[in-house]
Amino acid sequence: MRGSLRYSKPKGLLIAPSILAADFACLGDEARRVEEGGCDMLHLDVMDGHFVPNISLGPPVVSSLRACTDLTFDAHLMISQPDRYVEAFAKAGADHITIHVESDGDTAATLRAIRELGCSAGLCLKPATPASVIEPFLDLLSMVLVMTVEPGFGGQSFMADMLPKIKTVRALSDQAARPFHVEVDGGIDAETAPLVAAAGADVLVAGTSVFRNPNGVAAAMAALRNK
Ligand code: DX5
Ligand code: ZN
Repeated sequence: MRGSLRYSKPKGLLIAPSILAADFACLGDEARRVEEGGCDMLHLDVMDGHFVPNISLGPPVVSSLRACTDLTFDAHLMISQPDRYVEAFAKAGADHITIHVESDGDTAATLRAIRELGCSAGLCLKPATPASVIEPFLDLLSMVLVMTVEPGFGGQSFMADMLPKIKTVRALSDQAARPFHVEVDGGIDAETAPLVAAAGADVLVAGTSVFRNPNGVAAAMAALRNK
């Protein structure tokens, strides 16, 4: 059953495998593989070669994937002008759309546009961006994404110095009239998952440690959930 990402205090960690680490020659099969393995949503990394020095996928790929799975699509837009593209990603089948606070345009207006398109909205912070920047937008957010690597590439090492920021964002969520999910992205594996969970993250993005786990995706997700 598809749906927007509504906040509910999760009983456990929500796992969002990042499609960036999948085999792009068979993305539909890869989506079904993690769905059958028990993931909670699919994280779609969109890169424009401008906001980050890499290019990944666009709305046509999202649209094709939409026909392959009922998983909630968590789109992470690493693009300079998200206001120009949120409608295309919503129409392609995204359920949740996260934009970067460092991208161009009127952030509040773009978050509102995402919600008017029927999606839930999120804001992402690069490692150098402080947690306080989210404060003007709290009412519009269903999720805040704290990058634990520099955005642009999978397979990088987790930045432990992001843990205090995760704690600050969690505190902002706990104090907010409308609590939001706290998601982390970059270098999340069985070793780093307990650290981010203890800091207050409740949604874990994991690319390499899920799609390329030699023990399979179900084992990878159990390890992330510490079960
Ligand atoms: C990086 C992306 C991540 C990436 C995570 O810019 O936002 O979602 O795919 O990959 P891993 O889990 O391999 O660090
Ligand atoms: Zn991502």
